[in-house]
Amino acid sequence: MRDHIVVLGLISSSFVAASPISPFGRHLSAASTSAPAGHEWRIAGPSDSRSPCPMLNSMSNHGWLPHNGKNIDLATIQSAFQSAMGFSTESFISITEQALTLSTTGNSSTFHLSDLAHHNAIEHDGSLSRNDQFFGDDLHFNPKIWATTAQRYGIRVPFSTPVITVETASKARAARVRDAKLVNPAFNLTDQSGSIGETSIFLTAFWDQSAGGVPKDYARVLFEQERIPYAEGFVKGNHTLADIVTMISAVSAVKV
Ligand code: HEM
Ligand SMILES: *[C@@H]1O[C@H](CO)[C@@H](O)[C@H](O)[C@H]1NC(C)=O
Ligand SMILES: *[C@@H]1O[C@H](CO)[C@@H](O)[C@H](O)[C@H]1NC(C)=O
Ligand SMILES: *[C@@H]1O[C@H](CO)[C@@H](O)[C@H](O)[C@H]1NC(C)=O
Repeated sequence: MRDHIVVLGLISSSFVAASPISPFGRHLSAASTSAPAGHEWRIAGPSDSRSPCPMLNSMSNHGWLPHNGKNIDLATIQSAFQSAMGFSTESFISITEQALTLSTTGNSSTFHLSDLAHHNAIEHDGSLSRNDQFFGDDLHFNPKIWATTAQRYGIRVPFSTPVITVETASKARAARVRDAKLVNPAFNLTDQSGSIGETSIFLTAFWDQSAGGVPKDYARVLFEQERIPYAEGFVKGNHTLADIVTMISAVSAVKV
């Protein structure tokens, strides 16, 4: 028993970052790349606005969206998601229009990232990495909530597969909604389409065709650091709204 603990200690302290045979999942063979010039990751400062969306926050941290997270319009979202992530410009019109209804900027054509924490608009109960608004903070990353999702995704689970499949992501999503329903007396998520949509966009955006899923390293970095996983091998794709809709069908078809 003692030996096991020592071995695991060694593994987690030295092997995880670099070893191609990490027991926490195959490290993908894709060459490590760095962020495109001018889009290096910079942590958010105290006056920067951030949202309940790990992707929008990552986009601001890399300067694809304004680093301060403020006064963002539709054209900025469209060009940022096209340049950084390869999404066609129609992909996020609808969600951005919803975001603009929450604007506190004084200009109804722009929003601040923090405006998106408004409860029961886009923001909803049963998030993968945020607590429910009932418990006080629906905006910031919550390590405890995320730990359960990460476990369900198989992140840091020794000897598990290196990728998150549609089935894994769909079951983890549904399980988190069930958890929230049990503990939140104000739970309100009759329509789960937003939650399903977010999981589907995430799978579409970070899917690695050759690996057959989303590399767990990408998910870990996106949620925990709000960083686009360039160093882990992420390369932008070429996606349309139709691709997201196809993924929504796949996620919805999983028996959860
Ligand atoms: C490639 C594009 C995008 C990806 C991969 C993405 C990914 C995600 C993921 C995985 C979540 C769930 C977080 C959680 O449950 O803890 C989420 C939530 C959210 N996203 Fe995004 N997102 C994208 C684009 C957008 C855009 C364009 C908007 C709005 C303009 C947006 C607004 C939100 C909001 C408000 C939430 C919070 C919902 C909640 O969990 O309560 N996202 N997104
Ligand atoms: C409001 O924002 C839009 C979109 O960025 C911009 O075109 C417009 O000039 C802004 N209006 C004012 C009064 O600043
Ligand atoms: C529950 O959420 C929906 C939006 O999904 C909203 O229209 C409704 O007002 C909310 N109900 C309560 C009691 O807040
Ligand atoms: C993306 O795919 C479409 C066809 O689906 C193609 O017309 C377009 O040139 C591709 N764009 C890039 C940047 O590869």
